[in-house]
Amino acid sequence: MKDDTLLVTGGRSHPDEPHLVNPPVCRGSTVLFPTLEALQNRKGSRGLSYGRHGTPTTFALQEAFAALEGADGCHVVASGKAAIAVAMTALVATGDHVLVTDNAYGPTRHFCDHVLRRFGVETTYFPPMIGAGIAGLLRPNTKLVFTEAPGSQTFEVQDVPALAQAAKAHGALTVMDNTWATPLFFRPYDHGVDVTIHAATKYVVGHSDAMMGLITWCGAEVGRRIDAGVKDFGAPASPDDCYLALRGLRTMGVRLRHHETAALEVARWLQARPEVARVLHPALADCPGHDVFRRDFKGSSGLFGVVLQPVGHPALAAMLDGMELFGMGYSWGGYESLMIPAEPMRTAAPWHDAGPLLRLHIGLEDVGDLLADLEAGFARLHRAEKGAA
Ligand SMILES: Cc1ncc(COP(=O)(O)O)c(C=O)c1O
Repeated sequence: MKDDTLLVTGGRSHPDEPHLVNPPVCRGSTVLFPTLEALQNRKGSRGLSYGRHGTPTTFALQEAFAALEGADGCHVVASGKAAIAVAMTALVATGDHVLVTDNAYGPTRHFCDHVLRRFGVETTYFPPMIGAGIAGLLRPNTKLVFTEAPGSQTFEVQDVPALAQAAKAHGALTVMDNTWATPLFFRPYDHGVDVTIHAATKYVVGHSDAMMGLITWCGAEVGRRIDAGVKDFGAPASPDDCYLALRGLRTMGVRLRHHETAALEVARWLQARPEVARVLHPALADCPGHDVFRRDFKGSSGLFGVVLQPVGHPALAAMLDGMELFGMGYSWGGYESLMIPAEPMRTAAPWHDAGPLLRLHIGLEDVGDLLADLEAGFARLHRAEKGAA
């Protein structure tokens, strides 16, 4: 079945479920077993054993998302950050070394620099455009390569197949944060990835009203380790949120195609603006990794960056404070447009632009209205600059 059909039908395959189009919320902690044998084997009906390990609503979401991603399995956890933390700790041990892309989501770096370090796991950040050159950074104890393509602040697109091939040849696993593209626009398991994490808080939930993390994998041994890691953390997402994610998933295809078209229109408009130094969007020819993007990705989502010409803080604040449609908030992937300053944390490939970097998420509003909002924002920026001069 094609992706759009999987989005609509996924997770609806249980014959003993009431015949509702979307699996309803099934909440609960304690599961009663009919016999001592069933209790001791933890085999309740429909795979239920205890609420922490999921309910039919959780299982429906897991099944739908695994099918969409082309994965062998999927686990649901309470946030995207939890998915990163659980997946990484499930796959490394004291004395191991991990390689993480330098443009990774900030809290991913924080987890490596604080938690993994405390447990004796060393992290080296690699330049996002290193490609097959990653082989030169692999050490005998390197167990994991972590990618996020494109990085969600600076948008360089990594050569995931090259990274995964080098990792595999070395006996290391490749984990990918595939939140930006979703399985609709990047098929990680066709490109050698072993495990993915998703901040389902973004496009899967799609309505900025729930937190959710997903971990998927291919391969029985990796699956066993992720399974154990998820159980050891004991931080499930609530069935209510699984229900919202499953409901969001049904429309992710149409939403994402709208985000793609609208974001490209806004990105091209920004490219022509005198206030803009450069636009960081994987589908634009000058974005680092654009060739890789064209080769491996099936589309682009609604999140991209803009580097402005150097401008004072008061002028930037005048622009952002007065935006009517672009909200300021630390997320993306919902139906609404957002714009915030971004501050990339870099160590392997320093970030040198003189002007401020803004991160935009283009929502489902009318594009003409969004451009008018940006135009008015730039006018405020100029007025504030003139006032300061
Ligand atoms: C690329 C990326 N990965 C992971 C996360 C973490 O997701 P959550 O906010 O659900 O913990 C985010 C959140 O902004 C993100 O942008």
